[in-house]
Amino acid sequence: MTRTISIAPDKLPEPGARSLTFVDGRSVVLLNIEGVVHAIDNSCPHNGASLANGRLDGRILQCPAHGLRFDVVTGCVVGASGMCLTKLDVETVGE
Ligand code: FES
Repeated sequence: MTRTISIAPDKLPEPGARSLTFVDGRSVVLLNIEGVVHAIDNSCPHNGASLANGRLDGRILQCPAHGLRFDVVTGCVVGASGMCLTKLDVETVGE
């Protein structure tokens, strides 16, 4: 089951940008990929490294620890199967 987080519109990153937020004590990275905001747990599924400062190339986010590359849209490792980010649905609340 995918969890949904609520974010105020002024906290959403601009296209091509990202931001770090905390929801219920959980560190979450918001990435705006071509106008769509994706939310992922700030923990690499490989070994738990922070993904907040990973290199972002289009929709591909590279973990700074060991270099695995994740497709932010699908959430999964590029060119392999089985290892995926924890993605969260985003709903905007307020004005
Ligand atoms: S912790 Fe991210 S690739 Fe190893």
